Parts: sequence; structure tokens; C-alpha cells
Amino acid sequence: MTFSNKVVWITGASSGIGEALVYAYVKQGATVIASSRNKKKLQQVKKNCGENENSCFILVLDMEQQDNYPELAENIINIYEKIDILLHVAGVSQRSSDEDISLETIRRIFEINFFGTVALTKAVLPYMKEQGYGHIAVTSSIVGKFGFPMRSAYSASKHALHGYFETLRAELHGKNISITIIIPGRVNTAISDNALTGDGKRWGKRDAGQAGGFPAEKASKIILKSISKKKKEVLVGGKDLIMVHLKRFFPAIFWRIVHRISPT
Ligand SMILES: NC(=O)c1ccc[n+]([C@@H]2O[C@H](COP(=O)([O-])OP(=O)(O)OC[C@H]3O[C@@H](n4cnc5c(N)ncnc54)[C@H](OP(=O)(O)O)[C@@H]3O)[C@@H](O)[C@H]2O)c1
Repeated sequence: MTFSNKVVWITGASSGIGEALVYAYVKQGATVIASSRNKKKLQQVKKNCGENENSCFILVLDMEQQDNYPELAENIINIYEKIDILLHVAGVSQRSSDEDISLETIRRIFEINFFGTVALTKAVLPYMKEQGYGHIAVTSSIVGKFGFPMRSAYSASKHALHGYFETLRAELHGKNISITIIIPGRVNTAISDNALTGDGKRWGKRDAGQAGGFPAEKASKIILKSISKKKKEVLVGGKDLIMVHLKRFFPAIFWRIVHRISPT
């Protein structure tokens, strides 16, 4: 698989799945624009690209500050002339029951996971239409397929991504722009450490479920391959993916066990 001459813009590139995807794409010859809020971490990711360091460019971006997205997209086009793949990975999780989460924190989770993703898509899509091709991949979660304890807002924000991007896929039919929805199960990243508690504070713990999760590097390889094959959806992870199939084919069993699985 070669991605030389491909321009790939990856959000959430400073950590976890997004970071692993930066390494996977530069290794395959792509030019990667790595985005997140933390410039220092992004500089470290760039350095970690080793001999491919010069193929990784840093673009600081905050999913909660969306006004400058059209300007950022225009700058990328001015420099790199195209965007082949927009890969939305940035996101934040939740560690709180619905009873304990404030409306403010729910809105913040939606701002990052849903509205930030939509705003960036809207900034990039006109260029993809003009160039006559493109691929948008968006990172959901298995809890974008079913509700799960201590994830009410997170799960809802990921469900919303399915509604939005499935609609977009239908509307873009025949325009040579593909949409892939990435659906990870538990992957061993800092997602639980960075998750928000009910009052918006950082959870600050690597949950046992997270630590025992699928390796991010392995996940990145599956994701890269699925995007190349223009898959509409890809499930990525270990045993926990079975819950998606149970909900679909054996819902009675699903509802008997979902509340028994540890949310941490
Ligand atoms: N790990 C899992 O088990 C799992 C399972 C299902 C789905 N997912 C999804 O996979 C994606 C990646 O998560 P991960 O597991 O790699 O977690 P992670 O290690 O915590 O990485 C999250 C990334 O999102 C970025 N981000 C968070 N808030 C942001 C904001 N306001 N503006 C810009 N960037 C922001 C972070 O960068 P900065 O802090 O530098 O801004 C970081 O690069 C997320 O969408 C997550 O919901 C993960």
C-alpha cells in the first residue's frame, strides 16, 4: 500500500489512536497534517516519525474553537494543494452516571465530539467537491451503536455522528467522496485518563478495562486498511465488539448483560 502524494489531515494526533495513525500513514509515504491542542505533544509525535519526520506537519486546532476552521482548511489547500483524507479522531469520553453529569459537561462533550467534527467537515468538504474526490473518516465508538452506563453524553455524541455521516454519505452519492465510520471497542489509550467527570474535571485514571484494551498500533493498521478499501464502517478491537453483534442479532441477551459489564 502506498500513500505517496496523499495528503492526510488527522485530528487527535497527539495521543492514542490518532498518534498511531500518524505513524502508520507517514510510514506508507503520506504527507500528514497532525492536529490537536497540545503543540508540545505534536512536536514529540513529529519527532517520533524518525526518518519520516519531514512528512509530518503540525497544525494546532481546538475542537471547541471552530471559528478559524475555514481559514485552517484554506491554508492547507494553499500549501499542499489538496486534502485526500480528513481523518477525525479527536474526542473525549465520560466517566459519570447521567444523574451526576451537569448539562454544561454534556454540552462540552457534544462540542468536542460532534460539533467540532461537523464544523471541520464543513470547512473541508467544499475543497473535496472542487477537487472532485476525497475521503472523510470519523471515529465513533461501540457505544455509538448502543447505550452504556457512565457514558450517556459520550454515547449520544457518537450516535449523533452516525446520523450525520450516514446522511452525508447518501447526499454525496456519485460525487467520489467516501465516508468511513470507525467503531473502536476498548483500545489501550489515555481516553479514560482524559475522560470528563460529571462536573467537567479530568477522570485521571487508566481504567482496568482500558489498560486491557486492544493495542493502538494494531488498531491503526486496521483503520488504515479499511479506509483504503473505502469501507463504510469498520469495527476495531477485541472481545468487546461482540456486544455490537449481540445488540443487532440477539437483543434480549444484550439487554440481560449490558448493565453487568464494568464501565471502568
Ligand atoms: N480508546 C478507546 O477505547 C476508544 C474506544 C472507542 C472510541 N474511541 C475514540 O477514539 C478517538 C481517539 O481516542 P483515544 O483513545 O486515542 O484517546 P486519547 O489518547 O485521549 O486521545 C484523544 C485525542 O483527542 C484530542 N482532543 C481531545 N480534546 C480535544 C479538543 N478539545 N480539541 C482538539 N483535540 C482534542 C487529544 O489531543 P489534545 O489533548 O492534544 O488536544 C488527543 O490527541 C476518540 O474519538 C474516542 O472517542 C476510543
